[in-house]
Amino acid sequence: IKITIIDRDGISHEVDAPTDMNMNIMELVRAYELAPEGTIGICGGMAMCASCQCYILNDVDLPEKSDDEDAMLSEAFNVKENSRLGCQIHITPEIEGLKVELAPEN
Ligand code: FES
Repeated sequence: IKITIIDRDGISHEVDAPTDMNMNIMELVRAYELAPEGTIGICGGMAMCASCQCYILNDVDLPEKSDDEDAMLSEAFNVKENSRLGCQIHITPEIEGLKVELAPEN
């Protein structure tokens, strides 16, 4: 499926995202090197660091936040209405066309 990721420099990248590799958005950003090493995915995708925070830019039907995701976002910086943790969004056919912007590094 196609996913659009706007990096921290404001550059938009439309990337191919595999739905059969059990990947999430944080891992996708790392795979395409859209954020410098060590600035995203610090906790390894455990919803414990918020380095993978991103803003959801379009109306795609995403799964609800878990309590862990909610708790982490309530402590993170630069959180907006449309903030999610990239590591908690799995790449499935339902999210085709999703557009996200990486939150600033903090
Ligand atoms: Fe740490 Fe997502 S990688 S919260």
